[in-house]
Amino acid sequence: MKKTAIAPSNIAFIKYWGKRDEDLRIPSNDSVSMNLSDATTTTTVEFVQSLKKDEIELADGAFNKNEIARIVSHLDRIRGLANSADRARVVTKNSFPKGTGIASSASGFAALTVAAAGAAGLSLSEKELTILARLGSGSACRSIPDGFVQWSTGETSNESYAWSLFPSDYWDIRDIVVIVHDKAKKISSTEGMRYITTSPYWEQRQHEVGQRIVKIKDALTQKDFSQFGGIAEEDCLSMHAVMMTQSPALVYWNSATMNILQSIIRWREQGLPVYYTLDAGPNVHVLCEGKDEGRLQDEIFGLSAVQSVILNTPAPGAQVHEDHLF
Ligand code: DP6
Repeated sequence: MKKTAIAPSNIAFIKYWGKRDEDLRIPSNDSVSMNLSDATTTTTVEFVQSLKKDEIELADGAFNKNEIARIVSHLDRIRGLANSADRARVVTKNSFPKGTGIASSASGFAALTVAAAGAAGLSLSEKELTILARLGSGSACRSIPDGFVQWSTGETSNESYAWSLFPSDYWDIRDIVVIVHDKAKKISSTEGMRYITTSPYWEQRQHEVGQRIVKIKDALTQKDFSQFGGIAEEDCLSMHAVMMTQSPALVYWNSATMNILQSIIRWREQGLPVYYTLDAGPNVHVLCEGKDEGRLQDEIFGLSAVQSVILNTPAPGAQVHEDHLF
């Protein structure tokens, strides 16, 4: 059977940085995110009895050896659940150009999970799909449910899953991804998370993060944008403080990043409600309400550090798609 799925990437407002269990990818803390409309991955999977090995292709690019190995392990998990030994043909395509520095592991493993589970004939609930996607890449589980999503930590694998807090049409907010650097990062999130406890701020972050989850959900419920943006910034800074004080230190920001953060602070002082968050990289996610997007775009395009932007609205989660890639 051949199945295709399309899945969005997502941006976390309360971040996942650290694992309680590395093999099972159970996070140290809950996180809260939003799916991104314009950063998606489409993947087609077909299990074929006559294939000797998995054939995996990235349209407009190439996977490296480690990426291939991680995809094959995920296919093995799905074969295990389906009690099948058939190898797969996999073709995958990102909506955002390769080399924009946008992490594709969230959208990639969410699309792979939904397409491969379908192609293997498994019929899994949304919760089960989030647990399965999590085993491929932690943040991928948040790309399965609709809109605004929470992912819980847990004592066991079955307790660590993601669910929708609010659907994608709940609140018209935007994430303008400002790309300032287009090279893949040297240290992956998986690798970087191994050294979290070397940061003196790690324990402090663990004390604070539960309160921030409560506050951001409250801000979402009230649609209070300044409270929402303020907490997202606070959590981003807390995660980057941990990253920068880990050993070895992870400093993802560059001078263009700082230039944009300072511009955002200046625009806010001038009365424009705008906030920022960043993942494990130098590109800035600029958060605003739909009504302010036009004004903000003009400001952003006026900055010389900007290479390109991706405009995102809140999006539905991973879905089966009728058009196959092969
Ligand atoms: C900084 O999900 O890429 O983007 O589970 O090891 O695959 P693995 O890590 P990954 O980590 C994402 C970390 C982050 C923050 C976030 O998205 O919450």
